[in-house]
Amino acid sequence: MSGDVIYQTEALIAEDIDAYLEQHQHKTMLRFITCGSVDDGKSTLIGRLLYDSKMIFEDQLAALETDSKKVGTQGQEIDFALLVDGLAAEREQGITIDVAYRFFNTEKRKFIVADCPGHEQYTRNMITGASTADLAVILIDARKGVLTQTRRHTYLCHLIGIRNIVLAVNKMDLVDYSQEVFDGIVADYAAFAKSIGIQDFTAMPISGFKGDNITTHSPNTHWYKGPTLVDHLETVEVITSQDQDKPFRMPVQWVNRPNLDFRGFSGLIATGSVKPGNAVRVLPSGKTSTVTRVVTLDGDLDEAVAGQSVTVCFADEIDCSRGDVISIADTPPQVADQFETTIVWLNDEPLHVGRAYWLKLATQTVSVTVQHPKYAVNVNTMEHIAVKTLDLNAIGVAEIATDRQIVFEPYEANRTLGGFILVDKLTNATVAAGMLHFSLRRAQNVHWQPTDVTRADHAKLKNQTPKVLWFTGLSGAGKSTIANEVEKRLAIMNRHTFLLDGDNVRHGLNKDLGFTEADRIENIRRVGEVAKLMVDAGLIVLTAFISPFRAEREMVRKMLGEGEFVEIYVDTPLEVAEARDVKGLYKKARSGQLKNFTGIDSPYEAPPAPEIRVNTAEMSAEEAAEYIIRQLMPLK
Ligand code: ADX
Repeated sequence: MSGDVIYQTEALIAEDIDAYLEQHQHKTMLRFITCGSVDDGKSTLIGRLLYDSKMIFEDQLAALETDSKKVGTQGQEIDFALLVDGLAAEREQGITIDVAYRFFNTEKRKFIVADCPGHEQYTRNMITGASTADLAVILIDARKGVLTQTRRHTYLCHLIGIRNIVLAVNKMDLVDYSQEVFDGIVADYAAFAKSIGIQDFTAMPISGFKGDNITTHSPNTHWYKGPTLVDHLETVEVITSQDQDKPFRMPVQWVNRPNLDFRGFSGLIATGSVKPGNAVRVLPSGKTSTVTRVVTLDGDLDEAVAGQSVTVCFADEIDCSRGDVISIADTPPQVADQFETTIVWLNDEPLHVGRAYWLKLATQTVSVTVQHPKYAVNVNTMEHIAVKTLDLNAIGVAEIATDRQIVFEPYEANRTLGGFILVDKLTNATVAAGMLHFSLRRAQNVHWQPTDVTRADHAKLKNQTPKVLWFTGLSGAGKSTIANEVEKRLAIMNRHTFLLDGDNVRHGLNKDLGFTEADRIENIRRVGEVAKLMVDAGLIVLTAFISPFRAEREMVRKMLGEGEFVEIYVDTPLEVAEARDVKGLYKKARSGQLKNFTGIDSPYEAPPAPEIRVNTAEMSAEEAAEYIIRQLMPLK
């Protein structure tokens, strides 16, 4: 690379950022990921690409932030070794523990390379890097051939939907540029690729270190007739151009209504194109209208395509809001609430089967529960293994159920409408990434049956406001005793009540459940559903369950209406409950005869802000009940 080019670029950036960006903005962009362990020569290859292809090495962000320490912004000849050292140093500092994105461009194209570590414990980083990539470069050390890591990386890239795969057989200089070695590796890889459904890939013999077949055809591999790596990267068809040929879909980000005369729906077009006059359909409602305008900050457009952010206006005033998807009218995406999915677990805390998480798909956010995984995939051998849950970096197939209908397409057909993430409701951490494969037919055959006698009618007949009094606390805290006292007082006040008690419900409805985390989650989910039905029936429901996890108590709260869920924390210190030990269970737990006992070897998450709190070390059950009734007054 000549110092001149860098100098001019720098000057241009300094002089006029706009002109500089203008110069580049009409080029297409290719996002790719490089896969391979450090030993495979990944840093060397990236360094070589940047150095050798006469690419204007910007490390764009760094340049714009005027970080003059970065190699390549010095206005002088870049030293190849120095560049590779720089990349290696970044890795050592742990920067690539996350994903390092490197920006550069050639005369023909702009590139973003995601560089992520290859070891199995970094699966989540690879998934992050791969999720936005159009192409993957899978590096192989020619001396070693196809390794377990090669298979894992290929599988993950394919899973995440990367359809352009380059098999870069590296370090050819160390095997005397042997065609036989190259062909052997390609044949091995082809057999594996086929077994996981990869139709096609591009193999090339290279040396990142020596520069063979990176920008120019190497005289050392006269037997190789394919493209050089840079040729291929510059000319390979980018996936977004294919997205433009698919039917029109735009997830709505927000409703744009600056004044009464203008109402438009804004978003990023995921696939296809749209123009005024097009008949469109809004999902999930299914309402149709005609596009009148396609508006951008630069004015109205005759047509907009996948990848553009626009505001679309309709001829009719139909309902449409954030989370909806606007589609071409005659081939809409599907709508469903139960799916088979592949889930990649990204969190230290494992999946809790049955727990409610947020599912985010395009601009939709809904509550979701995950069923027991059907199996997990051993990413090294591709074997299916039986599992109870998914741990960090595990990949499994599981059914999920959302609390309302979502608009989707199979991931294979549309990454935007088929890819989702799961978010923990309490910590807000992203815990998983997933792909929807298909909806379950049973979901389509069960419909909500509207009834004529409504929940309001039930409540009116009973002359009361239904609610759930949710008692939570340790075993032996006094939940059942106090709930019983409260129910007696409500009965005297002519209230229609029902008490659901942990020990009793576990004799019938929930007798199939034990005390593992998953079983407790399911216990509370069922009790929550039953309590909700009873509230619909007009009752004041009292529940006495340990209900040790905040997440499930919050889930039940959300299932009910505003003010219908009253959390009552029976706050009894462990020592007090243990000293009482009415059922002798603490003794058994301490002696190891009873496993997973709450407070001993299973957690209890106290409510941070319960509606009512009673401390049974300070009051009797009767006093506690009186106190609770007073707090509930006036009981309408
Ligand atoms: S919860 O955790 O799933 O909400 P639940 O309230 O239904 O528990 O049941 C708790 C009751 O089951 C306790 O009061 C106790 O009598 C009994 N029990 C038996 N084994 C355990 C255990 N390992 N942990 C807690 N309670 C247990």
